[in-house]
Amino acid sequence: MYNEIDLDKIDISAEPPMEEPARQYYFMAKCREWVREFEQRNKRHPLACIQTFGCQMNARDSEKLRGILQQMGMESTESETADFVLYNTCTVRDNANQKVYGHLGYLQTLKKKNPEMKIALCGCMMQEPKVVERIQKTYGFVDLVFGTHNIFKLAELFFQCVASSNMVVDVWDSADKSVEQLPTERKYFFKSGVNIMYGCDNFCSYCIVPYVRGRERSRPSKEILAEIEKLAEDGVKEVMLLGQNVNSYGKNLSQETIHFGELLRQVNEIKGIRRIRFMTSHPKDLSDDLIAAMRDCEKVCRHLHLPLQSGSSRILKLMNRRYTKEQYLMLAERIRQAMPDISLTTDIIVGFPGETEEDFLETLDVVRKVRYDSAFTFIYSKRTGTPAAAMENQVPSELVKDRFDRLLKEVQQISSQVCMRDVKTVQEVLVESENDHQKGYVSGRLGNNLLVHFPGDTSLIGQIVPVELVEAKGFYYIGRQWSERNEKIT
Ligand code: 5AD
Ligand code: SF4
Repeated sequence: MYNEIDLDKIDISAEPPMEEPARQYYFMAKCREWVREFEQRNKRHPLACIQTFGCQMNARDSEKLRGILQQMGMESTESETADFVLYNTCTVRDNANQKVYGHLGYLQTLKKKNPEMKIALCGCMMQEPKVVERIQKTYGFVDLVFGTHNIFKLAELFFQCVASSNMVVDVWDSADKSVEQLPTERKYFFKSGVNIMYGCDNFCSYCIVPYVRGRERSRPSKEILAEIEKLAEDGVKEVMLLGQNVNSYGKNLSQETIHFGELLRQVNEIKGIRRIRFMTSHPKDLSDDLIAAMRDCEKVCRHLHLPLQSGSSRILKLMNRRYTKEQYLMLAERIRQAMPDISLTTDIIVGFPGETEEDFLETLDVVRKVRYDSAFTFIYSKRTGTPAAAMENQVPSELVKDRFDRLLKEVQQISSQVCMRDVKTVQEVLVESENDHQKGYVSGRLGNNLLVHFPGDTSLIGQIVPVELVEAKGFYYIGRQWSERNEKIT
């Protein structure tokens, strides 16, 4: 494993090795030398700042990128007034892209003050050739651009970048290999994401992900289990199994027959792990076998994120989701029958091309029937290259806005009612951080992922403690710690 490799023992005067991950360790060692020179020149450590946009997959990728930078000897900072600023971008909706372009203007002013500064862009947005063209044409001050398939190459690319005054661009169309044995720097010592598969083969007609993340590739279960065992030894209590479509885990593994339900059962056996979450499920692939595995595994959180996208069977067909409204409702029913206390959350898109008022009312109907604990609601965003972008009858924005507001109101009303249900109960909370707003308070998450703030000190961070939920605040709670003897501690 990576932490057994002593970078100072690598002969950096030799040619770089061809095989991975040895090649990347060689470049990390090379970059260390650059870092030492920087320190001599500037009498301080070089600072690196990673800004992450988008989903949990990107957040996990950023931990890997941070791990590499740390091995190189860079000091991590939240501030963009750093010597190396890396944006890990998202392109699922256009506003994510606009945010990046907006921030780039600011980076340019920072670079004028610190000419040695290096600016890098990576992630989903960089997989779009049009974006890279625009960066090359309009944002010539950017030093490095790479994509989603070669993040493991950061050390090599950084080295290339400091050695050259031209923009380095390295974006791969697909992943011919995935290099896993590299350092990671986790944001939380007690919880971690674990990639179980990459890419997506579903091609929902509105979605750009299959084009920027490539074809579905599952990691062998042995490798995943070994990683989680190591995390558990390292003090991790909660793992989040990550993939665009975790329910189809294992489908493309020739030497492997285990499916997602079985993977859950095996992770459930790992000592030290107390909570298991996963993200994201596609309703069409959610089998009874998985429901049974969730029900049987006591460590699997009673929470399922089950994207609906639309409640209209007609729109679902146009979206290429491959389930109907009725099938979705039946599935939600089967899940609730197996686990009556499960918390269901969802994603909904409003204003898909051709969506009528009747279609929208079908969505509201599902929302009222399922009564989600919470829902992420999105305004449809046209993504160039997807089938939906070429569809006629795009919905006028005033109509979309009106539907969006009505949906949000409904979702919020239901969420706050559902949240009330658990007031006065005592539940386990994994404490995550000091509370930003109230001194003497800490914040943590329930199994259903809702936040709880309660009086406590930082020694609780990383612990799972019983907390009485005193007050529901819509989408979070105020609580108080509950002692073993069932006495309130405050
Ligand atoms: N427009 C709006 N929302 C989208 N999503 C994916 N693509 C689009 C798009 N083009 C939403 C879906 C998905 C979530 C991650 O983002 O609801 O589940
Ligand atoms: Fe996009 Fe559909 Fe794949 Fe999710 S399942 S990433 S919405 S194509």
